[in-house]
Amino acid sequence: MKILVTGGAGFIGSAVVRHIIKNTQDEVVNVDKLTYAGNLESLVEVSDNVRYAFEHADICDKEAMERIFAEHKPDAVMHLAAESHVDRSITGPAAFIETNIVGTYVLLEAARAYWSGLNEAEKSSFRFHHISTDEVYGDLPHPDEHPASAELPLFTEKTAYAPSSPYSASKASSDHLVRAWLRTYGFPTIVTNCSNNYGPFHFPEKLIPLVILNALDGKALPIYGKGDQIRDWLYVEDHARALYTVMTKGKPGETYNIG
Ligand SMILES: NC(=O)c1ccc[n+]([C@@H]2O[C@H](COP(=O)([O-])OP(=O)(O)OC[C@H]3O[C@@H](n4cnc5c(N)ncnc54)[C@H](O)[C@@H]3O)[C@@H](O)[C@H]2O)c1
Repeated sequence: MKILVTGGAGFIGSAVVRHIIKNTQDEVVNVDKLTYAGNLESLVEVSDNVRYAFEHADICDKEAMERIFAEHKPDAVMHLAAESHVDRSITGPAAFIETNIVGTYVLLEAARAYWSGLNEAEKSSFRFHHISTDEVYGDLPHPDEHPASAELPLFTEKTAYAPSSPYSASKASSDHLVRAWLRTYGFPTIVTNCSNNYGPFHFPEKLIPLVILNALDGKALPIYGKGDQIRDWLYVEDHARALYTVMTKGKPGETYNIG
């Protein structure tokens, strides 16, 4: 099968591309704008492979997306391209609205137009897999504020959306668009929401690499507030395997939380 991966030069996208090229016989078309977060060096292990192709393009560019679908004729889309850094969304939300909301809309429409022209068998096997975050659910209560006897609360796929930053609000918007395209047009979409990832090729401004690099340099370690936040961390290569499983075995219309 041929999979169009958006944001394949990013942290999680590059792990997905490496996983697919190294562990399956599938082909990958990586569509990436190469913002500050995109790095083709994360793909050197696989970029010479005949099953890998790169398209330097912006998902907000309608003509480019239509051309890419028409030329490559993918069987599935894994959509990871996004502005992803919460702190940057606070200082400059515009790029988050543009890429995460408008870009997802442009990609959905280009994909749906292409899908409409497929035969019935191709249409029913096609998948549009949208990769999102558990930050759309907001915050869980701190364990200290929770009775010790009770089980710790967890997000489930049925938890109500309560995003709290421009980043998570833009991702929540894109999740709603993707689900609406399934209900309205019968377009076969799947959504996954995952917790924070860590692992190889993580961008140095993110918490775990930042703390490691500062520690190696003997610098102070940055702590948010009083340092009492708790996060669930997911190893990026485990996540890449989970995403591939969902994309190949998941059911259209479903949401899967990955943590
Ligand atoms: N990193 C995490 O811990 C985490 C957790 C939950 C969900 N997610 C989601 O997973 C996805 C991937 O996250 P990541 O950490 O790999 O992000 P990242 O910031 O490392 O990479 C994003 C990639 O998208 C590309 N991109 C940005 N805007 C684009 C545009 N307009 N057109 C085409 N390409 C564009 C960038 O060049 C980059 O290669 C995102 O949708 C993010 O919301 C990430």
